[in-house]
Amino acid sequence: MTDPQRALDYVHQNRGRFLAELKSFVAIPSISTNDDHKADMRRGAEWVSGQLRALGMEKIQIMPTGGHPVIYGEWLGAGAEAPTVLIYGHYDVQPPDPLELWDNSPFDPVVHGDLLFGRGVSDMKGQVVAALKAVEAVISTTGLPVNVKWLIEGEEEIGSEHLGTFIKEHAEMLKADVCLNPDAGMIGEEYPTITYGLRGLAYMELRVWGPSKDLHSGLFGGTVHNPAQALIEMVAGMHDKNGRITLPGFYKKVRKLSEREHKEFGRLPTDKKFYLEQTGAPALWGEPDFLPSERVGARPTLEVNGLLSGWTGQGSKTVLPAYAMAKISCRLVPDQTTTETFEQMKAYLEEKAPKDIRWELIDLHNAEAAITDVDNPGVLAMADALKTVWGKRPLFRREGGSIGVVVQLQEYAGVESVLTGFGLPEDNIHSPNERMHLPTWHKGIDALVHFLYNYKK
Ligand code: BES
Ligand code: MN
Repeated sequence: MTDPQRALDYVHQNRGRFLAELKSFVAIPSISTNDDHKADMRRGAEWVSGQLRALGMEKIQIMPTGGHPVIYGEWLGAGAEAPTVLIYGHYDVQPPDPLELWDNSPFDPVVHGDLLFGRGVSDMKGQVVAALKAVEAVISTTGLPVNVKWLIEGEEEIGSEHLGTFIKEHAEMLKADVCLNPDAGMIGEEYPTITYGLRGLAYMELRVWGPSKDLHSGLFGGTVHNPAQALIEMVAGMHDKNGRITLPGFYKKVRKLSEREHKEFGRLPTDKKFYLEQTGAPALWGEPDFLPSERVGARPTLEVNGLLSGWTGQGSKTVLPAYAMAKISCRLVPDQTTTETFEQMKAYLEEKAPKDIRWELIDLHNAEAAITDVDNPGVLAMADALKTVWGKRPLFRREGGSIGVVVQLQEYAGVESVLTGFGLPEDNIHSPNERMHLPTWHKGIDALVHFLYNYKK
């Protein structure tokens, strides 16, 4: 029997237990953005370190950062000549809200047919467990042909704010030939995918104040600028009628798409129909001169994530609110930077904000846009692994989501990433009823097993 076959047999025999372990991980509500879940974040970190211990990893540590802790572990028994793979993951998840839209409790995972439901099943506890179990299968059968190091963080969903400093301070410990990052999903069940570009994210909160207290809209309406009205005027002006962003200098550093890349985007199955189906929107919207897949993968955008002001409860209340707030984020592409984007937003507001209100702009969190090297031997090993399992070569794409660690590893440790993953567009990540397709997860574990045998530096 070949080496991969022994490990694959192990995987197939242990699938039930792997799923049970994944469920116990998903049951921990490790929501990084919310202070009420600090203890759960700790439990999430301990769950991961327990898994690394069971794998026989060495130097396992739950390491403090300025925010949530990082888990590290390593096994370097393959020797100095063998390549070293740094396996990245995150144990934090997005908030499950709005809770009333879930069919099941988000932290009490359930299986229906081929699908596992729960917050974080796809993004990315399922992917972390896939990597843990692929390594377990290889260790338990033939032994690992490569050295492995683990970097599992707890702040990915809030911009990996403290991970950059952590990587800078532990660059030697994290040294590796490549980083395996399974947080980037795939285009569809039948389309194994390697992602070579991610957008950045600059997340801000815009606060607007008008009168010193909420006012009767009859007694005072018409005398002062309503902050809700002022806020939406400011927000509305951030796009022109063609969907272009109006912040001064916003497009100056946007890297142009080459003719070749434009052709490749055109060949992806993520066409107009795909986005109509995935989103359920009555029509698509965005820059007319670019394909939808380009607008997601290679063009910057500005989104209103949430608005808050005045009376939003049942029925009506005649009120002129004192305060309004918008959560605004920009997805960025190379060579834009989050710092410059924040400055551009400030410049826009300084020029455009009405003078009859007070405003404040807060920098919440950030991640930089990334392009990875597609000629890295890790990419070849992964492409072969995906081809072995799916029977077809993977698609290469730039994706619109953000993963802060990719640029941090490039800049502070000189480590390139191979970005893949086994989450699907219909998995409802960050949405109610997040789910994971178990047959695709099983294929993913197999692919990671093959990767561990394929990879040569
Ligand atoms: N796994 C996602 C990003 C992703 C999803 C990349 C699908 C490619 C395909 C990741 O966990 C994520 O959601 N990141 C956040 C980061 C942000 C808060 C800085 C995002 O993109 O919103
Ligand atoms: Mn996410």
